[in-house]
Amino acid sequence: MDKYIDLVSGGLGKKLARQLGLPTPVALRRHSPGDPLLEGPVLVLSDYASRDDADRLAAAMLSWHLDVRRSTHLPQPERWGAVVVVLTNANHPDSLADPALELGSTLRQLARNGRVVFLSRQASAADSPDVAAARAGVEGVMRSLGKELRAGATANGIVLCDGDGAGSAGLAGVTSPSVLGTLRFLFSGRSAFVDGQPIPVVGNGEEDPSWERPLEGLVAVVTGAARGIGTSIVEVLTRDGAQVIGVDVPAAGESLMQVMNEVKGMALQLDVTAPGAADRILGAARERYGRLDIVIHNAGILRDKLLANMTEDRWKDLIAVNITAPLAMSARFVEAAEAGLMGDSPRIVSLASTSGIAGNRGQTNYAAAKSGIIGMTEALAGPIGAVGGAATAVAPGFIETDMTARIPALMRQFARRANSLQQGGLPIDVAETIAFLASPAAGGINGAVVRVCGQNLVGR
Ligand code: NAI
Repeated sequence: MDKYIDLVSGGLGKKLARQLGLPTPVALRRHSPGDPLLEGPVLVLSDYASRDDADRLAAAMLSWHLDVRRSTHLPQPERWGAVVVVLTNANHPDSLADPALELGSTLRQLARNGRVVFLSRQASAADSPDVAAARAGVEGVMRSLGKELRAGATANGIVLCDGDGAGSAGLAGVTSPSVLGTLRFLFSGRSAFVDGQPIPVVGNGEEDPSWERPLEGLVAVVTGAARGIGTSIVEVLTRDGAQVIGVDVPAAGESLMQVMNEVKGMALQLDVTAPGAADRILGAARERYGRLDIVIHNAGILRDKLLANMTEDRWKDLIAVNITAPLAMSARFVEAAEAGLMGDSPRIVSLASTSGIAGNRGQTNYAAAKSGIIGMTEALAGPIGAVGGAATAVAPGFIETDMTARIPALMRQFARRANSLQQGGLPIDVAETIAFLASPAAGGINGAVVRVCGQNLVGR
C-alpha cells in the first residue's frame, strides 16, 4: 500500500516534502455510516442571473441540517466545508468574473477534504455563442481549480441537461431530486476520489428513501465479484441495503462463496461469456429474490501486449470478456426491462477505464473494449431510459489493487502521484460511485461516464 502518505502526513517528512517541492497527499475523507455530510458550513455563490436558483438551492440544502450561507460579506467561519457556485443562467464569460473571484477569496478557508461544486447548464444548439462560451467556460474553471486544490479537496460540476425525450426525462432544475442527490454525493466522503468531473444530470430521478440505505429492497448482480473491485462493490451495495448476487468463474468459486457468505448474498458460478448468461442471472434472481433491479458489469481481464506483438488469442479472449459479454447481457436485460421484469427503474452500471478514454501503451485490446463500454453505455441510455431506467459507466484511474501492486515500484509511484489528489484510489472509491449511480437519486444520470481517478492527468 501507499506508505508515502504516512511519511509526509506530519513532522519531518511533511516539512522535507514541502521544502523539496514533493507531493504532499493527505488521507482522504471516506464515508462511514453516520458521518456528517461536511466538516463546516456551506457557502453558496452565484452570478447575478443565477441568484434565484442559488437561493432555491440554499433553501433545499437547509433540510440536510447544514449551516448554509449566501454571502462572504458577513464574518467568515474558520473553515468552509464546501463552496457551491451556481452559474445556471450565466450568459456571457464576463459574468463568471465576480463569482470566480469571490470563490478564490474563500479558498484559503476551505477545509481539508473540502468540496467545491459548480452548477451549470448544458449549452444547446439554439444558444448564442456568448451563452455557449459561458457554459463551456464553467467547465474550464472547474477543471483547473481541481488541479489547484490541495489537502484532499475536490472540484466537480453538476451540469443540468435537457432529457431530450429519453424516457420521462425533462429539463433538470436546481432542486430536482437527481441534482440534489448528486450534490449530496459530491459533498460526502463517498466521492473521495472523484475530482475534476462534470456530471450531466437530467430532470428525473427520485429522492433516495434513505441516505444511509438508498438501495433497500432492491436486488443487484455484480459480475467478477470474487475479488478486487468486484468484492468492494458487493460490500458497498449490501451496506446500502441491496440484496446482492455475486457472479464469477467456477475457478474462483471458493473465494466467491466466501465473499457472498460474508454479506449473506448469493454466489452464482458463471462465466459471463457463456451463452445465455443473462438468462441464468435473471432466473436465479427471480427465483431467490423475486426481482432484479441493478446490473453491474465489473468482470474484466487484462491481456497487455504492444500491438506489434499482439496474438489472436490475447486480443479475442479480452474482447470476449470485457465487451462482447456486457453487450450480449445488456441486450437481454433491456428486453427483460421492456417486458417489465426489472423493477421500476432498472440500472446498468459498467466498468470502463481511463485507458478507454486516454489510451494506454500496451493496451490496444483493453482500450478497444473499455472505449466500447462507453459507446455501449451511451447507446443503452435511450432504450433503458424509455422504461424509466438508466445506463452509466464508471472509469477508474489508478486504483490500489492486486493488479496494480504488480506494476514495478518506480512506475507505481509515478502513476499514484499523476493525479490532482496525488495518490491512488481504493476499490471502495469505485464501489461508492457505482452504488450512487445505482441509487434512486441518480435516476437522472443516464448515458454518462463518471471517472473515479482523482483527476488523473491523462485524458479529459
Ligand atoms: P481483478 O482481476 O482483481 O478481478 C476481476 C474478477 O473478474 C476476477 O474475480 C475474475 O475471476 C472475474 N472474471 C474474469 N473473467 C470472468 C468471466 N469470464 N466471467 C465471470 N467473471 C470473470 O480486477 P479488478 O482490478 O478488480 O478490476 C475490476 C474491473 O475494473 C475490471 O473490469 C477492470 O478492467 C476495471 N478497472 C480496474 C482498474 C484497476 O486499477 N484495478 C482500473 C480501471 C478499470
